[in-house]
Amino acid sequence: MQKSSVAPLLLAGLLGAPLPLAAADDGRVAVDMPEMMRAHMMANMRDHLTAIHEIQGLLAAGEYDAAAEVAETRLGMSSLGSHGASHMAGFMPKGMQETGTAMHQAASRFAVTAQEAAVTRDLPRALGALGGITTNCVACHAAYRLK
Ligand code: HEC
Repeated sequence: MQKSSVAPLLLAGLLGAPLPLAAADDGRVAVDMPEMMRAHMMANMRDHLTAIHEIQGLLAAGEYDAAAEVAETRLGMSSLGSHGASHMAGFMPKGMQETGTAMHQAASRFAVTAQEAAVTRDLPRALGALGGITTNCVACHAAYRLK
């Protein structure tokens, strides 16, 4: 993180202003789920982060096809079955479901873009498509938490 983006956070901390990371009552909608679903969803989440991390490494290595494969199988529309998405969706508010669907669609779009980049070597475009995935991670985390 750059200095300039840390400074306001530090200042907010010193002034006792609410930090995004702080309180339970932080404006996010709290979603109730049975414990097993909750554990399953959090395991999926940790795998999502691992997948993003792997994709970044593969892009840096110029291994676009492998990045596409990770995105499609672990985050994309092909991953929905293995994630048990249809069981979990029933416990999610509509907006949360939509953000989840948008993330899976963005991952499948990224996979196509990454495959194209294997030919064009257009890394900036591939990174832009990766941002199309993570924008949904960020949006959902900003709006929802589990109870
Ligand atoms: C549809 C909503 C949604 C999307 C999309 C989403 N998440 Fe999450 N994620 C959550 C919620 C809700 C939590 C629990 C947060 C809480 O209760 O404070 C969570 C928690 C996590 C955690 C913490 C897991 C743990 O064991 O504590 C990680 C890591 C994570 N998400 C990564 C990601 C990544 C990476 C992406 C995108 C590729 C992503 N998530 C997309 C809703 C989402």
